[in-house]
Amino acid sequence: MPNTQSITPWWQRGVVYQIYPRSFQDSNGDGVGDLPGILARLDYLNDGTPDSLGVDALWISPFYPSPMADFGYDVADYCNVDPLFGTLADFDRLVEGAHRRGMKIIIDWVPNHTSDQHPWFIEARRSRRSPQRNWYIWADPKPDGSPPNNWGSFFGGPAWTFEPASGQYYLHQFVKEQPELNWRSPELKAAMLDTLRFWLRRGVDGFRMDVVGLLIKDAALRDNPPNPHADPRLSPNDLHGRQLAVYTEDQDEVHAIIRQIRQTLDEFDDRVGIGELWGPLPRWVRYYGEQGEELQLPFNFRLMNQPWQAQAMANCVAELEAALPPFAWPNYVLGNHDQPRLASRFGGQAQARLAVMLLLTLRGTPTLYNGDEIGLENGKIPPEQIQDPQGKNLGAERSRDVCRTPMQWDASPQAGFSQAKPWLPVSEDYTQRNVAALSKDPLSILNLYRQLLWHRRQHPALQLGSYQTLPAPTDCLAYQRTLGNQRQVITLNFSSREQRLSLPVDNGRVALSTHLDRAEPLATAGLILRPHEGVIIE
Ligand code: NOJ
Repeated sequence: MPNTQSITPWWQRGVVYQIYPRSFQDSNGDGVGDLPGILARLDYLNDGTPDSLGVDALWISPFYPSPMADFGYDVADYCNVDPLFGTLADFDRLVEGAHRRGMKIIIDWVPNHTSDQHPWFIEARRSRRSPQRNWYIWADPKPDGSPPNNWGSFFGGPAWTFEPASGQYYLHQFVKEQPELNWRSPELKAAMLDTLRFWLRRGVDGFRMDVVGLLIKDAALRDNPPNPHADPRLSPNDLHGRQLAVYTEDQDEVHAIIRQIRQTLDEFDDRVGIGELWGPLPRWVRYYGEQGEELQLPFNFRLMNQPWQAQAMANCVAELEAALPPFAWPNYVLGNHDQPRLASRFGGQAQARLAVMLLLTLRGTPTLYNGDEIGLENGKIPPEQIQDPQGKNLGAERSRDVCRTPMQWDASPQAGFSQAKPWLPVSEDYTQRNVAALSKDPLSILNLYRQLLWHRRQHPALQLGSYQTLPAPTDCLAYQRTLGNQRQVITLNFSSREQRLSLPVDNGRVALSTHLDRAEPLATAGLILRPHEGVIIE
């Protein structure tokens, strides 16, 4: 077998694990998770043995100084740590601790907007003549005093807020406390690229870049057209949901900026750029660059909202594989801090187990979300306790709090997350659904994650091999991953009925089942998959 391990970059071989720091582990008893909390849990994430989770890179959502209008995605200083989360020295210890265990550190970078409390915005809003005025996006009112155009905010209402002092509106496509930066200003661009260098010098291995598809908007500020397919049930306040983001997203000019961001990363060895990108495939694929000179991993969320059907998943993978140019490396995401929990979204625990076997065996870099490994389901947050601005503005059913409840470590009060009342309530199932209890249960979802990750690590074919689908019944998905003479066959039953598969495999052996209760030679009569069962054959 070729020695691919040494020549392929870590971000192709490895598995990324997202940590939402507010909800992972509180170390100082204030009810909010922090960086020392993450440090204390590094052995859980990877201690080099199959008893730990076994992930390769940690992506940590924002921990910058922030007034928390959008829980850290409103940054008031790009080069520091909010005291709520710790100090720069804590961050350095975290990088050192992760690197010592062979894990990389990826941090969130929020280049589209700052907090309205960032010194740049405080200066810019002072007057039209401020030297930093054009670091943000300002426009005059229409003659009748209304906003410059029809653009809506993702979080409800118009994307413009009026500043009486200077008589202009500023742009914000999220809450009004998140004014948008003007990437056409060379000074702003230089200042932002320097914030990347600040962290690169501190040893971070890459960035997850927030909404990079929004960095450039139409210079003429043309109105977005109405979306003819908008869901009629959308909140009346959801102006953005009723529009097609023709003039606010994926503008051609953005690619020159992404190339400069990439060049900045390439001033250092072996770093990765991951982008949060949502557009349709032909637009999305452009973020790899014409020859790979933009992002190594534009996040691919396409599997996340598929119906729970083998064929839908297979088509989604096939479309992606067909769209990728040869130099582009795929990646898949099934959950994050903005989406309902995957166990709730796909129908339950059985589906969550099958979903992770899919995620960890497809061709491409998988990203896991903290808590999914213990099968966390959507938290139940009483309406008056909703924290998320999206939930407050667009209705409880749009609240992202459901996927941000505290990590459940053990059966002690507050699930071992904190000594204090947490910022969001711990889910009621914590006495059974927690890391300590599930670790002791050999058949638990947590042990399935561990075994899958370990198996993936032991089999380069699963990390780097080619992907080919195999014939299978309608409700099943079957594919093989091949590298040199190593072959892994994956079979997934999406139905609640038993399924029989005949596979083109001689002398095969069931290596791993989502039910964790079988390891046997493959019967010559074929493979029987139980309801919702997935099996890896080698
Ligand atoms: C995407 C982030 O994932 C989300 O949490 C945030 O609210 C918006 N970008 C705005 O920064």
